[in-house]
Amino acid sequence: FQRVELERLPPMTRDFQKILSDVCEQCYRDFAPDDVELKVREHILQDFESFLRCQVPGAKLVLFGSSKNGFGFKQSDLDICMTLEGHDTAMGLDSMAIIESLAKALRKHHGLRNILPITTAKVPIVKFYHTKTGLEGDISLYNTLALHNTQLLASYAAIDARVKILCYVMKVFSKVCDIGDASRGSLSSYAYTLMVLFFLQQRSPPVIPVLQEIYDGKQKPVVPVDGWDVYFFKDLKNLHRHWPEYKKNRESVGELWLGLLQFYTETFDFRESVICIRRKEPLSTFKKQWTSKHLAIEDPFDLSHNLGAGLSRRMASFIMKAFINARRVFGSPVRVFPPDYSNKMEYF
Ligand code: GTP
Ligand code: MG
Repeated sequence: FQRVELERLPPMTRDFQKILSDVCEQCYRDFAPDDVELKVREHILQDFESFLRCQVPGAKLVLFGSSKNGFGFKQSDLDICMTLEGHDTAMGLDSMAIIESLAKALRKHHGLRNILPITTAKVPIVKFYHTKTGLEGDISLYNTLALHNTQLLASYAAIDARVKILCYVMKVFSKVCDIGDASRGSLSSYAYTLMVLFFLQQRSPPVIPVLQEIYDGKQKPVVPVDGWDVYFFKDLKNLHRHWPEYKKNRESVGELWLGLLQFYTETFDFRESVICIRRKEPLSTFKKQWTSKHLAIEDPFDLSHNLGAGLSRRMASFIMKAFINARRVFGSPVRVFPPDYSNKMEYF
């Protein structure tokens, strides 16, 4: 992400700000799944679990990712984590053999197609296609940290309605601009969600707190999982007692969306700073030894994981250009909103 000359934007009008908020809210209404769609996902999970229990003894399944973190689309994939009863961790288990036998078992399921075990990835998975719903999905083994970051994201979504709306807008934006697919060299939607959360924590006054820094008592609790600390404040009903800035930010979603685009194109220094949602204090790329990367996004629990590590220079600059264009389009009050925007959104 290099510094570039930015066009000066015309002054924002109140009417245009209202249009921006309406577009953001419409985006959320159009793409968020309804209760029935969420129940269907739970139903598929139950069906898989009872089917698998006959084939893989002790198999337990849990949904995670966007089916559970509050930022799911109607067509989002099904992210499923499998554990085995009597085993708290994957230690001592032959993960590759379990993945192979899981794939073999799933091939017998009549409702599934395209079963594909992938044992070479960092987290081995079995991919599948669910014929009746047209949903794709994967089952991973002991993906425990992902279960915790799903809960963390869900907590942020529950704090303020604007969090959800902005994360949807960001996801739609990344899909429309073709910059939201980590398997094709760009960034995952999880990475974009972290970018939104970071911006909302840095806003003045902030829209959301840093949940990993709030705690009762004198000392921050530590919850170790897979060698990392997954502690964060969960008692959201009492958040106002622990966070002085609770409900202080009154900006509209439209203002925040434009604020986010300005933040990442004008204010945030990608060369110097890490996008880090686990603490309020700035974190430098130098301290993390991530200076050679174009974009540094730290996972909130696995602190060695930079979600931007896979970006090429070309892709980083392509993403930056998308943000600069968006800042210009969303930041230029015009009487009619760019007409092809709504057309492109219909693809999702
Ligand atoms: P969708 O695009 O709606 O599926 O969003 P998603 O949040 O479900 O993303 P995805 O299916 O790619 O990832 C599933 C979950 O895996 C994420 O929500 C995170 O909880 C977890 N995860 C942890 N680390 C990573 C990572 O480096 N990349 C991705 N993609 N996911 C990660
Ligand atoms: Mg997913």
